[in-house]
Amino acid sequence: MRLTISRPDDWHLHLRDGPMLSGVLAHTTARFARAIVMPNLAPPVTTTAAAVAYRGRILACLPDGSDFEPLMTLYLTDSTSAEDIAEASASGKVFAVKLYPAGATTHSDQGVTSLEKCFPALEAMQRLRMPLLVHGESTDPVVDIFDREKRFIEETLVPLLQRFDELKLVLEHITTADAVDFVRDARAGVAATITPQHILLNRNALFAGGLRPHHFCLPVLKAERHREAVLEAAVSGEPEFFLGTDSAPHSRGRKESDCGCAGVYSAHAGIELYAEAFEEAGHLDRLENFASHFVPDFYGLPRNSGTLTLTRSPWTPPASYKMPDGEELVPFRSGESINWRLEGA
Ligand code: DOR
Ligand code: ZN
Repeated sequence: MRLTISRPDDWHLHLRDGPMLSGVLAHTTARFARAIVMPNLAPPVTTTAAAVAYRGRILACLPDGSDFEPLMTLYLTDSTSAEDIAEASASGKVFAVKLYPAGATTHSDQGVTSLEKCFPALEAMQRLRMPLLVHGESTDPVVDIFDREKRFIEETLVPLLQRFDELKLVLEHITTADAVDFVRDARAGVAATITPQHILLNRNALFAGGLRPHHFCLPVLKAERHREAVLEAAVSGEPEFFLGTDSAPHSRGRKESDCGCAGVYSAHAGIELYAEAFEEAGHLDRLENFASHFVPDFYGLPRNSGTLTLTRSPWTPPASYKMPDGEELVPFRSGESINWRLEGA
């Protein structure tokens, strides 16, 4: 069986920098025409100048013949100003701003400690139609890790959307039935990205036969009823739910450690994994809208020309990929089969 769809985009991607960037980029460019590139480098991408320079490093690493376009983002801090937003918007290179609550995840220590400090920046974003991309988890250490998304929605997102009633907002990598309900019921201009791991796995996968660090990401995998709700949203055909892999490479050493990093690497199968989930749910016909059509409409960008073809022919990702500096990267489903294959790969 073959499936041909318009070329998709990845609306949430970590590419890193240096050797890791050159080691992972070809996986994305073989599949996606564009990607929203996350700004949580060390140090974070907090200015337009830094975003434009990072974009240049990505373009310099592109495999020959690829026509991939990186869509850059700014990392919101307590001191991001309205002028910073205006400059980003005018650059034509920066397409969104990412909110990491300070301490929520990888390289979020310079993230936002108090949203009130960001109100001038948020007002500018609302005016300039620049989307706010949100890592939606409470950082209150007493909140149970499985409840952090729900608490963030109640305590932060609801008041934020009341105050900024025209701000475009994407709740990134949703993991719970609560987030699905919230986005579904929200006004126009509120959307969500969905990762492959959150529709293919539930939290049992973190402990299957022992501790499984390569299944650890943030927000953490949730209970089966939440996986089902997020999968149902992904395949629903509703345009406010769209593809964002959150592919987040970390070296094997940084994952398999006494304090392992959060992140699942999925760019090597960044469309194939969704095809598998959509087929299992009986809605393969809805993959194209989810992957290729809904978001350009949301971001106000043109749809891609060109197509991508998948064949239903199982393959097995390697135990690891070697990065140029010799580090190993363990991909999602390493050593296990994936039902769909990229034609020509
Ligand atoms: O699992 C994650 N990894 N979640 C995030 O929010 C950040 C990401 C990363 O940068 O590694
Ligand atoms: Zn991410």
